[in-house]
Amino acid sequence: MLNKKKIAVIGAGHIGTALMGGLLKAKLLPPGNLTASRRNETALEELRKSLGVHVTTDNRKAAKGADILLLCVKPQQSAAVLEEIAPEVHEGLLVLSVMAGITTESICRRLGKPVPVVRAMPNTPVLVDEGAIPIARGAHAGEEHLKLASAIYTAVGRVEVVAENLMDAVTGLSGSGPVYVYMVIEAMTDGGVKMGIPRDIARRLSAQTVFGAAKMVRETGKHPAILKDEVTTPGGTAIAAVHELESKGLRTVLIDAVCTATRRAKELSELYG
Ligand SMILES: NC(=O)c1ccc[n+]([C@@H]2O[C@H](COP(=O)([O-])OP(=O)(O)OC[C@H]3O[C@@H](n4cnc5c(N)ncnc54)[C@H](OP(=O)(O)O)[C@@H]3O)[C@@H](O)[C@H]2O)c1
Repeated sequence: MLNKKKIAVIGAGHIGTALMGGLLKAKLLPPGNLTASRRNETALEELRKSLGVHVTTDNRKAAKGADILLLCVKPQQSAAVLEEIAPEVHEGLLVLSVMAGITTESICRRLGKPVPVVRAMPNTPVLVDEGAIPIARGAHAGEEHLKLASAIYTAVGRVEVVAENLMDAVTGLSGSGPVYVYMVIEAMTDGGVKMGIPRDIARRLSAQTVFGAAKMVRETGKHPAILKDEVTTPGGTAIAAVHELESKGLRTVLIDAVCTATRRAKELSELYG
């Protein structure tokens, strides 16, 4: 599906580099079909050496002749970069954006053309090919564009198609979510240390427990409450801990965290979008 496509990654920082790495590792296209742009020439030279992709500091040069543009600059840089590359944007080009809070409508407006745009909100586990990646299409993108976007993002994680009006909510859930889980792992580790387990062992056990529990939810397809019920032996340790977690409001705190992060995503979107 992607083999003959030329992709330009505009703003090849953390996310852009992770996406290029994933595409090459999955052998979805050869390095010669990828062009990366950013301003820092030393960083570009490192990219050229490590990934074998074309590099340039000239965004317009990168965009020229591309079939797919992958926009990975920060939201505050989006307006200037979109206006800069607009003259190279032609009919038939697919624009993919990971820029938080920048709507597909605003991307088309800045480009001055009704091009197909698919937005994504990847989270940082894309760096280890385990991202959660909700994608949403704009008004001029069709099923075939969603399929292309899915093919690209599947190289670095799992894709969910959502409506664009849910992009702030998915930012609050999976976009910011790794942070919540890091805090859970850190706190469980501290609990283990308090009970006498050496810190490095406690951290490995906590991380593997989160990883394993997530895999159980994903692979059994069972509701998490059923999985919880299956491991809470009457009068046992887990149900004693459940009582503690419920009385301290763990679930309410997490629900509130997602809602607060969603509201913040909306505020930021209004600022730059
Ligand atoms: N990190 C996350 O968890 C995450 C999650 C979801 C979405 N996002 C979105 O992904 C985007 C990138 O995030 P990131 O974490 O990868 O940031 P990043 O590492 O700072 O990457 C942005 C890159 O853009 C380049 N850049 C800045 N101005 C430019 C210009 N005028 N022309 C070309 N390149 C330019 C910067 O390199 P130079 O300084 O060398 O130009 C930098 O490498 C953001 O829009 C963010 O909202 C990030």
